[in-house]
Amino acid sequence: MLHKTLKPFPDDFLWGAATSAYQVEGAWNEDGKGPSVIDVRDQYPEGTTDFKVASDHYHRYKEDVALFKEIGFKSYRFSISWSRVMPNGIGEVNPKGIDFYHRLIDELLEAGITPIVTMYHFDLPQALAEMGGWSNRDSIQWFADYAQLLFKEYGHKVKYWLTINEQNMMILHGSAIGTNDKNGGQKDLYQQNHHMLVAQAKAMAISHEMQPENKIGPAPNIALIYPASSKPEDVMAAFNYNAIRNWLYLDAAVRGRYNDVAWSFMEEKGWLPEIKEGDIEVLASAKPDFIAFNYYTSQTVEASHNDASDAVPRSGKDQHITIGERGVYRGYHNPFLPTNEFGWEIDPIGLRSTLREINDRYHLPLMITENGLGAFDEVDAEGNVNDDYRIEYLHAHIEQMQLAITDGVQLFGYTPWSAIDLISTHQGCRKRYGFIYVNRDEFDLKDLGRLRKKSSFWYEELIRNNGLTQK
Ligand code: BG6
Repeated sequence: MLHKTLKPFPDDFLWGAATSAYQVEGAWNEDGKGPSVIDVRDQYPEGTTDFKVASDHYHRYKEDVALFKEIGFKSYRFSISWSRVMPNGIGEVNPKGIDFYHRLIDELLEAGITPIVTMYHFDLPQALAEMGGWSNRDSIQWFADYAQLLFKEYGHKVKYWLTINEQNMMILHGSAIGTNDKNGGQKDLYQQNHHMLVAQAKAMAISHEMQPENKIGPAPNIALIYPASSKPEDVMAAFNYNAIRNWLYLDAAVRGRYNDVAWSFMEEKGWLPEIKEGDIEVLASAKPDFIAFNYYTSQTVEASHNDASDAVPRSGKDQHITIGERGVYRGYHNPFLPTNEFGWEIDPIGLRSTLREINDRYHLPLMITENGLGAFDEVDAEGNVNDDYRIEYLHAHIEQMQLAITDGVQLFGYTPWSAIDLISTHQGCRKRYGFIYVNRDEFDLKDLGRLRKKSSFWYEELIRNNGLTQK
């Protein structure tokens, strides 16, 4: 739809950027922090760093927040490391870990930046993993207790809460991200999924009970699925994958019930989770205040060939590249979309479609909590990082966001990935996303100095204007 006049971004729009604890903080074993599943990984893809130092944000958070302020961020999305505040995931609380997030939040508030907190971003405490992790039904209570601690400590300072980052990617692509190497197969994964859904519902209810003025929502990765063609079989495959990748998670979080097609998929495969008495009521009782979602790219599928080749990824294994399911859907390269250096398709219009679809289904305010371009940025001879490609990517997506707002979508925040360079989930630190460059290499930490990239100056102006002027 073409609009004669575009609606402006709301005055209080939460422009900002995002990170996650294990990808940015470092200090992996300092001040009483317990190990997470990420810290105990003994293998990393060849040529890529571990997460021990990352961007050293734990020690340099003041300098980082000062730069965020300079850019003009209205918000900053970060995650709390569960094992930093509760070294074993349950029981004992680590005062120094608690204190770190108080200091970070206070620094942000003082800088006029609204904190948006993700409660859990891939880094489950290792002690919990050793007790079965999310496969253990007790995980529901572990997460509820952790939620209670976070709300008690920070709920009076933090208004916006996100429960679980990209739960759907942990289930569909956990081995690529490094979160579920030791899982017990697909059935177990859907059992983990069920526990996370109930845990998330409980956390939302606890937040509403403890701090009714705060807002809380889920944070899956949502990407609308296109059919490879108008062939009815391809369209049906797209419906299938939409249900399995997207709506399973949002229907449970928002409508409090399992999506029918996703349910029948799990039934067909023999992967139905065990649901205990009371679980359905817990799911139904949780009412998110908004939906946060991450968007990097759309996905395209064709009809299944109904053989083993359906499950062979078309280009590498990655959380943003579809792995098909025999008899259900098959990944397809969309010939209309360019790809980035890592094979991810770039689809700004797909963001508008995704925003519209989520709005149509759930009628809740929306926040985009990740979106961005990973690239091998370099500092040039004059000492600048001229990441025009990132500006182009962000510009194109923000343009579509404004169109979606004009379409009637209630979008209230945008925190692209990432505020500062950090370590990618499985492609090292040279795959950079930040507005701020961090001077380090995969194995050479250099001085870890900070340098604003060209995109940060562009974003500063955009925030000042509350939207796009021109490229
Ligand atoms: C999202 C995750 O899937 O994508 C982030 O929430 C991640 O943690 C981001 O960093 C980009 O992916 P990658 O694999 O390039 O780090």
